[in-house]
Amino acid sequence: MNEYEKLLLQNKSWVSDKLDLDKDYFNNLADIQKPEFLWIGCSDSRVPANEITNTEPGEIFVHRNIANLVVNTDLNMLSVLKYAVEVLKVKHIIVCGHYGCGGVKAAATNHHYGMLNKWLRNIKDVYRLHNDELSKITEEELKIDALVEFNIIEQVNNLAKTSIIQKAWKKNEFPILHGCVYGLKNGILKDLIKYDRSTAMDDLYKFDFEDGLED
Ligand code: CO
Repeated sequence: MNEYEKLLLQNKSWVSDKLDLDKDYFNNLADIQKPEFLWIGCSDSRVPANEITNTEPGEIFVHRNIANLVVNTDLNMLSVLKYAVEVLKVKHIIVCGHYGCGGVKAAATNHHYGMLNKWLRNIKDVYRLHNDELSKITEEELKIDALVEFNIIEQVNNLAKTSIIQKAWKKNEFPILHGCVYGLKNGILKDLIKYDRSTAMDDLYKFDFEDGLED
């Protein structure tokens, strides 16, 4: 049996475990999707959204990419964000990064990663933005940990800069944006930043929407 066939078998045993606990488990799930959270996390296999938050299928709408970035030209992320905010009407958006992130580590080097350079460039910009604080940290691992945290905070800021979020805030108080960091070594999620419609934002990023509400 290969790895893939093993996965399919594991799926069968998961289904029977769920049905043992609740015979209507899948019937109920299939009815409606009404998650309260959008999760923007790292693709890293060690940071699965449902597992580390002890939640079930149906509770978190998930988008993951390398180093949990919110890039304003990323149609994939923007489509997920728009659907989550305007159709699912999630109450909270969580940007979750993690210590020891390979993407963040890679961005902090001068190594040439081919096509990946374009993606990692966004993290290099975060490094440059926080260079003063980062240059004071001499221990390499601590420096990367700090960059991981700055990166999460900047991605939360990036969410607030989108017209999707600003439009939602014109109408009501949701969604509330959160940034948190996951510790691979202890499993703990640490809260870093909360951003809502009352949080001060640089004027230059605010849209007045006088010319229309399209994205
Ligand atoms: Co990562």
